[in-house]
Amino acid sequence: MAKLEIKIYPDPALRKKARQAGKVGNDERKLAYDMIETMRSSNGVGLAAPQVGISKRIIVVEDMVGNNKIALTLINPKITQKKGKVKFCEGCLSLPGVSSDVIRPEFITVEALNLDGDMFKINAEGLLARIIQHETDHLDGILFVDKIGFLKRKKIIKQFGAKVCMEF
Ligand code: NI
Repeated sequence: MAKLEIKIYPDPALRKKARQAGKVGNDERKLAYDMIETMRSSNGVGLAAPQVGISKRIIVVEDMVGNNKIALTLINPKITQKKGKVKFCEGCLSLPGVSSDVIRPEFITVEALNLDGDMFKINAEGLLARIIQHETDHLDGILFVDKIGFLKRKKIIKQFGAKVCMEF
């Protein structure tokens, strides 16, 4: 496994819509393992391939089962159901030092391929639902700061300097 370089805002890779992953093979598995290592060594709880400059619809998320962390890989994830609304404080490895409350659906159903190329379905709530939605957004070039109020966004933008204001 290797640690990959995380793209930091305003890197254009973060704004591109990622391509569908075709057949799940060794390249996809290696990428997923490297992404898991990168996520964990950065103390993150999720990572999307565009954040390491790869235009592929692959995300890794950390699931907590009791005190154990289990890294899940979702290939071509598709959120098929959303329910409820909840506020939760989010951050992003591509926007270091920034966090904000974001309102999103509380319960989701997501379908994806696993590392064997088999389809699976998860009904998620709480932190896991939150992470999956945040990471799936990355695949469409969407950042969490796109989902908050204008004034709050303006304040966050200041941390990244006036130069990037117009791009949010
Ligand atoms: Ni993020």
